[in-house]
Amino acid sequence: MDDKLRATADQAMKGISRRNFIKGIIAGGVAASSATYLFRASLVGQQQPALSDRLITLNVNGQQRRVDVMKQETLAWTLRYKLGLTGTKLGCDRAECGACTVLLDDVPHYSCSVLTHTLRGRKILTIEGLAKPDGTLHPVQQGVIDEQGFQCAFCMSGFIMSAVGFLKKNPNPTRQQMALGLSGNLCRCQDYDKILTAMMRGAENMRKAQHV
Ligand code: FES
Ligand code: FES
Repeated sequence: MDDKLRATADQAMKGISRRNFIKGIIAGGVAASSATYLFRASLVGQQQPALSDRLITLNVNGQQRRVDVMKQETLAWTLRYKLGLTGTKLGCDRAECGACTVLLDDVPHYSCSVLTHTLRGRKILTIEGLAKPDGTLHPVQQGVIDEQGFQCAFCMSGFIMSAVGFLKKNPNPTRQQMALGLSGNLCRCQDYDKILTAMMRGAENMRKAQHV
């Protein structure tokens, strides 16, 4: 490289500030994550059957919801992006974290790992369907308020749905049994002790409510 060329290159490098460099990295990251969604969206758009074949009726939170579903679409995707029920969170999207837990016929399931079109005739319950129509919270939700459980709360709806499902089978668990019942849910804030206390309070609230 001759001196003139080197001087021009040095000048150009000086024009790239640290701030601009970092902005570039962030923009690249955004592009990469957008690409993931675009990739999934393009998969979703491939070789689809006629619209009449894709329309199914789901029972979600006690309501019949008619929805256009792709054959490879997961329940988490349908709930969040078709039905607007964003209380169901997507963490890992591969059956590891439990953030997407909902109840299917009263049993907790990872909604990121269930295909929506297989759920005709099943009863789907999400966090949005727990409170009563008058706004009274479910006893487990109230337990979270009573104990100020959770830090960022990203994992909260998954934990609550798992606890509600678990308490249907075992309404009077020990703390250890509850911990085992919730072992399919992870918390990135590592707030497990407080979460467990909140869920145990929820269990107590449920027992009290049944005796009122
Ligand atoms: S998002 Fe479904 S288990 Fe993590
Ligand atoms: S409270 Fe933050 S992920 Fe659980």
